[in-house]
Amino acid sequence: MSPGAHRLLDQIRSRRSRAGVVGLGYVGLPLALELARAGFDTTGIDVDPRKVDAVNRRTSYIADVSTSDLAALVGEGRLRATADFAAVAGLDTINICVPTPLRKTKDPDMSFVAAAVDGVAAHLRPGMLVILESTTYPGTTEEFVRPRLEAGGLRAGQDFFLAFSPERVDPGNPTFNTRNVPKVVGGIDAPSTALAGALYAAAIERIVPVSSPRVAEMVKLLENTFRAVNIGLANEIAQMCDRLGVDVWEVVDAAATKPFGFMPFYPGPGLGGHCIPIDPFYLSWKAKQSGFDPRFIELAGQVNSAMPHVVAQKVADALNDKRKSVKGSSVLALGIAYKRDIDDIRESPSLDVMSVLTQKGARVRYSDPHVPVLRADRWHGAVELHSEPLTASVLGQADCVVILTDHRSFDYDLVRRSSSIVVDTRNAIEGHHPNVFRLGAPVPSESAPPEAGHSEQPAPDAQAVA
Ligand SMILES: NC(=O)c1ccc[n+]([C@@H]2O[C@H](COP(=O)([O-])OP(=O)(O)OC[C@H]3O[C@@H](n4cnc5c(N)ncnc54)[C@H](O)[C@@H]3O)[C@@H](O)[C@H]2O)c1
Repeated sequence: MSPGAHRLLDQIRSRRSRAGVVGLGYVGLPLALELARAGFDTTGIDVDPRKVDAVNRRTSYIADVSTSDLAALVGEGRLRATADFAAVAGLDTINICVPTPLRKTKDPDMSFVAAAVDGVAAHLRPGMLVILESTTYPGTTEEFVRPRLEAGGLRAGQDFFLAFSPERVDPGNPTFNTRNVPKVVGGIDAPSTALAGALYAAAIERIVPVSSPRVAEMVKLLENTFRAVNIGLANEIAQMCDRLGVDVWEVVDAAATKPFGFMPFYPGPGLGGHCIPIDPFYLSWKAKQSGFDPRFIELAGQVNSAMPHVVAQKVADALNDKRKSVKGSSVLALGIAYKRDIDDIRESPSLDVMSVLTQKGARVRYSDPHVPVLRADRWHGAVELHSEPLTASVLGQADCVVILTDHRSFDYDLVRRSSSIVVDTRNAIEGHHPNVFRLGAPVPSESAPPEAGHSEQPAPDAQAVA
């Protein structure tokens, strides 16, 4: 290790190094808190002045970060935020956690990473450690980030240290958080890996070093592609079960009793969030650059993105059963966040289901305690909607209620009793009921079979976790 690396290692171990986090969103804000809590003087940098103001006013805007924790750290002077990249000059370590969306063409949109890295590069000084956390294609850190950071003349590995470490946060998960999810770390050389590992070890329970940034980048894409493909399989099996009159939920739960070689994934209205619907296409794009045509990713994408139409058809079939058409019917969507118990509607399949039903002439409303307002520009229905209270009267007024995201706070018994028809895409309502049409399950009848082996829990969260 060079003297510069030794110096930074000492500073990290003694908590004298000053930490910076660029991008204070779902990933960056919890990380900034963990670093500050671990004892580092921490500065968050974000281009959004509302987030900067909120942090400095000691108010959290991320559900997984409590305002009291944030307020305590800001109050003690251990955490602050700024929109000014000049702050980089006073930092020793920098974690970059900015968005990596897709363009309409499904190509990576690297503009946020480029802007953030350029902002850091303008104030880079010798001895610093830069870590990219944004999910991205294999090769980004070495091919895209490194040359931008070196543009001012400093050399990675000699003058500064560089690593990639994928973020694995699962918003809304009550068990796993930034602290107790193992952190994979791959530096461009051994000192970079060691320094990044030391930084995270101060705040995170287990560090998993790998041999390069490229491996670390690929780890994240394998994890998320695994999810996308298995959810795609579950969604296709659900459609087969629908045709064959078999209950997919009972099948998956029974299969999950196998103690080895099987992991349950559940069907649903499609993929949502910033990760699972997007990340696999970063890998697909990169593979195509080297002449390889990935088939699983594309196929899973096709199956999963067709699910909102499958659900809309299920609603049409359920209404048809009651001699009603979609056109002119009132449909109440329950849950528009992309997964249970969170407030994030990015890429939410619920919005696609609502849009398809609106296009077919339904009058769509929604209820979601986590999302009080749905702005007109956030969905194709193009009108602003407000969350309806979940009362017997609101449920009773709808021709069909469709459960899209199974928030724990919903009273499913009330939903079943007060609604004329329910289409349940999450197996949230236990048992067989004549007015409940479940995705991937036989059409209900008055003489439905008694419940057998039904899970006690609403559908687990395997569907759409970012
Ligand atoms: N949300 C998740 O569950 C999750 C999980 C794992 C990985 N990731 C990955 O982490 C990365 C960040 O995701 P997120 O959900 O936190 O996004 P986010 O949109 O919640 O937050 C990103 C933040 O970066 C800020 N930003 C954008 N450009 C900037 C710039 N040039 N300089 C400084 N700040 C800038 C934005 O204002 C925003 O506050 C993405 O690559 C994502 O794929 C997200």
